[in-house]
Amino acid sequence: MFVANENRYETMKYNRCGTSGLMLPAVSLGLWQNFGHKGCFANMENMIHTAFNLGITHFDLANNYGHPYNGSAEENFGRILDDMRHYRDEMCISTKAGYEMWPGPYGNRNGSRKYLLASLDQSLKRMKLDYVDIFYHHVFDPNTPLEETALALDQAVKQGKALYVGISNYNKEQTAKMVELFAELKTPFIVNQPSYAMLNRWVEQDGLDKFVEEKGIGLAVFSPLYQGLLTNKYLNGVPADSRIGKGETWIGSQLNEAMVAKLNKLNAVAERRGQKLSQLALSWVLHNPAVATVLIGASRPEQIVENAACINNLEFSAEEIAEIEAILAE
Ligand SMILES: NC(=O)c1ccc[n+]([C@@H]2O[C@H](COP(=O)([O-])OP(=O)(O)OC[C@H]3O[C@@H](n4cnc5c(N)ncnc54)[C@H](OP(=O)(O)O)[C@@H]3O)[C@@H](O)[C@H]2O)c1
Repeated sequence: MFVANENRYETMKYNRCGTSGLMLPAVSLGLWQNFGHKGCFANMENMIHTAFNLGITHFDLANNYGHPYNGSAEENFGRILDDMRHYRDEMCISTKAGYEMWPGPYGNRNGSRKYLLASLDQSLKRMKLDYVDIFYHHVFDPNTPLEETALALDQAVKQGKALYVGISNYNKEQTAKMVELFAELKTPFIVNQPSYAMLNRWVEQDGLDKFVEEKGIGLAVFSPLYQGLLTNKYLNGVPADSRIGKGETWIGSQLNEAMVAKLNKLNAVAERRGQKLSQLALSWVLHNPAVATVLIGASRPEQIVENAACINNLEFSAEEIAEIEAILAE
């Protein structure tokens, strides 16, 4: 039986998710990579325990996470939970459906009621849970009426299988339609999950961040480290055991000489602030008032420890912000 550190809540900061009642840790752990059956179970377990001991109460999953087959991350998470179910009420667990999951027309990339509700049942079974805290539609589907997707998410709540709902990979315009639909249904729609990082600022350009803030919806940001590029790892080349080194991401295509120079300049700012580059990148995203939490990924527990410590320096001076803007604009 896993016994958590007694002082686990002394180290984390908690933010309200929009104007909802739900508090989220500033740093959350996502299980997209490194939690499938391809990985080492003891390492996965260690990462979840390490995170929980740091006050990271939020774990973000999706039906399709894990290699070599979709759903294996939820299976492993369920197995890890077996030893920590007495802490269930101290956890906020999310899952999603929307991308390719099972063969045929119903488990394919879509937002139908048929797919979403069946998928949620499967996720609950894999994690051995009665409910998830947040159920997301994973990606906007131009072919399903948004009313149908909204009703399916609303039904998940009415069935008691989800406490809150969210949407992911929806832009401002698409989000605005969902805001209206959920308001009519009185669905507890509290969160939007976009990608956002120093090197990926589409949410600012789109105006999604300002819009959700105005509507009282929180942002749970994914890939805030730009899949690891915004860490010390790639400052002097590509380590073989990294996500880029293993060829697991397209992000390696961005790693040219100019990018390495930019990363080193950002690292100099981080060092002056007494931070690692990863911590600077996370603090910078958290500095946007629309952001409730950053969803980090990790391949080992030490990365979680390093990343969680970003909360020790979340303030930026105007000079630092200007300097960072200038580096990013180069
Ligand atoms: N809604 C969506 O469509 C969507 C899409 C993508 C992700 N997500 C969510 O967001 C979560 C995070 O995404 P992500 O994994 O791309 O996030 P990320 O935090 O940008 O990247 C995580 C990767 O960076 C490296 N890393 C992390 N901390 C490090 C450190 N301190 N030093 C050196 N390297 C470090 C690790 O890769 P190495 O393997 O190289 O060590 C790690 O796996 C996912 O797990 C998922 O929950 C959602």
